[in-house]
Amino acid sequence: MKKKRILSGMRPTGKLHIGHYVGALENWIRLQDEYESFHLIADYHVLTTDLNTDSIYNDTMDMLIDWLAAGLDPVKSPIFRQSKIKEHTELNLIFSMLITVNRLERNPTVKEQARALHIEQVIYGHLGYPVLQAADILLYKGDAVPVGEDQVPHVEITREIARKFNNQYGKVFPEPEPLLTKFPRLPGLDGSAKMSKSLGNTILLSDEPETIKAKLKKAVTDPQKIRRNDPGRPEICLIFAYHKRFNPTEVLEIEANCRSGVLGCVDCKLNCSEKLSAFLAPIIEKRKYYENNMNEVLDILADGELRGKKVAQETMKEVHEKMKFG
Ligand code: TRP
Repeated sequence: MKKKRILSGMRPTGKLHIGHYVGALENWIRLQDEYESFHLIADYHVLTTDLNTDSIYNDTMDMLIDWLAAGLDPVKSPIFRQSKIKEHTELNLIFSMLITVNRLERNPTVKEQARALHIEQVIYGHLGYPVLQAADILLYKGDAVPVGEDQVPHVEITREIARKFNNQYGKVFPEPEPLLTKFPRLPGLDGSAKMSKSLGNTILLSDEPETIKAKLKKAVTDPQKIRRNDPGRPEICLIFAYHKRFNPTEVLEIEANCRSGVLGCVDCKLNCSEKLSAFLAPIIEKRKYYENNMNEVLDILADGELRGKKVAQETMKEVHEKMKFG
């Protein structure tokens, strides 16, 4: 049977953190055997919230190297940039006729972003970015899209656009399903629910052991646990959340010893940094390899863009035929 397709995408925001890994990348790596996968670097999407593009190229390369270092296989699945396959913007234009402004204004994700970033007047391209995202997905006829909760409304918009196109012009597109990431979000080093670059509370996939140690040392644990022997509450501790993910074999013991107080935060943090560093060591090593072999990285991208473009062109040909543009 033919493998189902997935299209996964991420905006290039530079070096990735362990939240990206747990929330997305790990899932993509797992899915690349089961599905025919396409991996999109959504560089045009960055413009929706940041017009300064000075660092976009470097951010793209940093993210791409992290993808490769973490285990995305560019032979199995092509990796490409939105800005280099013009069919994305072409399909975006057609799709922008298939949805109302009112529907886009009801999108909770854009509203939330505007609130978080204190944007008073939403630009046209920001309001419309789920349409470009629909084009990203449907250009490759994605049957499924691995996403976090916040992107589910965009997959719904994608389904609506696919349906509208198919009804109007004849069937070309599948109605893609969201594949929700299982693992809950990793908290940030400051105790925020989410690890994010803009909050400056991240552990990078490329952080060396000394950096991780220093970052964890400063992290806030249970404020009621001041000394060793004070009982702690692992359920509110971000270090414990990291143990759960990166130190599964010791997690029960840590939980019991934190609650009883036998385990102090200093030791617990040291243990956690060691486990994290051990986990990241092979990724860092591969990252260094790619940094020293940039030609290989550029070849991977060129190959991905060629393969991506081929599929994109086939879809656009079908679209034009169904629409009778000829
Ligand atoms: N909008 C997504 C985000 O902000 C990024 C993205 C762009 C995407 N195109 C995509 C995700 C296509 C999945 C599929 O995270």
